[in-house]
Amino acid sequence: MTTQTTEKTRTDLQATDVQATDVQATDLQTTVAKLEKAQVIEKPANTGEATTGATFEKLTCKECGTEYDAKALHVCEDVCFGPLEVSYDYELLRRTVTRETIQAGPNSIWRYRPFLPVATDNPIDVGTGMTPLVKSHRLARRLGLKNLYIKNDGVNMPTLSFKDRVVSVALTRAKELGFTTVSCASTGNLANSTAAIAAKAGLDCCVFIPSDLEAGKVLGTLIYSPTLMAVKGNYDQVNRLCSEVANTHGWGFVNINLRPYYSEGSKTLGFEVAEQLGWKLPDHIVAPLASGSLYTKIYKGFQEFIKVGLVEDKPVRFSGAQAEGCSPIAQAFREGRDFIAPVKPNTVAKSIAIGNPADGIYALELARKTNGNIESVTDSEIIEGIKLLAETEGIFTETAGGTTVAVLKKLVEEGKIDPDETTVVYITGNGLKTQEAVQSDVGQPLTIEPKLSSFEQALERSRTLERLEWQQVLV
Ligand SMILES: Cc1ncc(COP(=O)(O)O)c(C=O)c1O
Ligand SMILES: [Zn+2]
Repeated sequence: MTTQTTEKTRTDLQATDVQATDVQATDLQTTVAKLEKAQVIEKPANTGEATTGATFEKLTCKECGTEYDAKALHVCEDVCFGPLEVSYDYELLRRTVTRETIQAGPNSIWRYRPFLPVATDNPIDVGTGMTPLVKSHRLARRLGLKNLYIKNDGVNMPTLSFKDRVVSVALTRAKELGFTTVSCASTGNLANSTAAIAAKAGLDCCVFIPSDLEAGKVLGTLIYSPTLMAVKGNYDQVNRLCSEVANTHGWGFVNINLRPYYSEGSKTLGFEVAEQLGWKLPDHIVAPLASGSLYTKIYKGFQEFIKVGLVEDKPVRFSGAQAEGCSPIAQAFREGRDFIAPVKPNTVAKSIAIGNPADGIYALELARKTNGNIESVTDSEIIEGIKLLAETEGIFTETAGGTTVAVLKKLVEEGKIDPDETTVVYITGNGLKTQEAVQSDVGQPLTIEPKLSSFEQALERSRTLERLEWQQVLV
């Protein structure tokens, strides 16, 4: 590193609050090495200085409209403590973004970069996004729907859930803001994504999960060698602890102090569906709800495409899915309340077990204003939903997906989805991570001797038995 660059780095260090602690480091070389690891951009955005290539402007309070610089901040701390959301220069987007410029971009979420809150032209691209939108035939027929599509984020990269989208955005922004350690409070999938993408980006990582998660979620985090804190408590307790750590440690928590950036990543689930439907919006979507962020951001994605002229305006109904054992938003919807009463989660669907949902109130409003519904299903319906999707479409989803499919089925049975509507069901995670949930519902393989006679005998027996009784076939 040249002296000139070192001097520049020193100036930048002094100009930013995040690096203020680094300035105190006696060994400047160590500091510079740290910064190199974090690949801090020339003018870190938390200085409030303009960054070239940025189409986003400010953070705006969703409640009172107060504006803030685009820093690591998630609540309206000057006025009302409402949540902050990124606002963009939509005039600029309207002038510069076309269907062609998007299609000429990478085959990942970054084809929509002008709609995402990062300034760099070199984001962390681990191939996240552009997952299949599958036209359903067998599930559709089973349910009596004519135009059903499945958005399959169970095969998202790199960790097989939609969380790869939000984390790709959050960690790209974290680097721009100068963070060298990233973190999250997770129900499982977010920990997988944060650990994997931090590894790829060369960021230090410490993630927090409830201690009772499925083995696949735990191992699927540990493999990337983060520091993993398994907290003896539920997600809401983990989240509260993390808010305290965020205040004391100065780390970038993707879903706390970086939440305004993180949540924007979910808009790409709206953008992709619109693009994959031939630049059209569907009539109805069904998505799972935990904090409610994903659901509300799909809506924001559709609205932005309308606003800049990429798709025609039309009403889209938003329906949401929760597990009965953790359904604070569905309960409020059912009871016609306009507030969310927090609950203590108790469900097999651990990935969506958030008892005190940060965006619950916005999800509730959205379902009502779009003439959608929020429904909940029991754990056994969730398992049935997982099996139904697997048996009809060859897609093995996790418990969140089982919840969504089961709610889709329930809404059809209740006459709340019109068979002719173009309906998109969002499958957000992969079943290999939650094997425990279905272990006792899938039967066993037929164990046979390596002999033709043994095979024939087993085949004969298996034809006369229900699948779940196969294990009784002892040859
Ligand atoms: C697989 C899966 N689907 C859906 C969600 C819901 O996300 P949100 O908190 O944005 O509502 C989660 C949250 O962790 C998840 O892991
Ligand atoms: Zn406010």
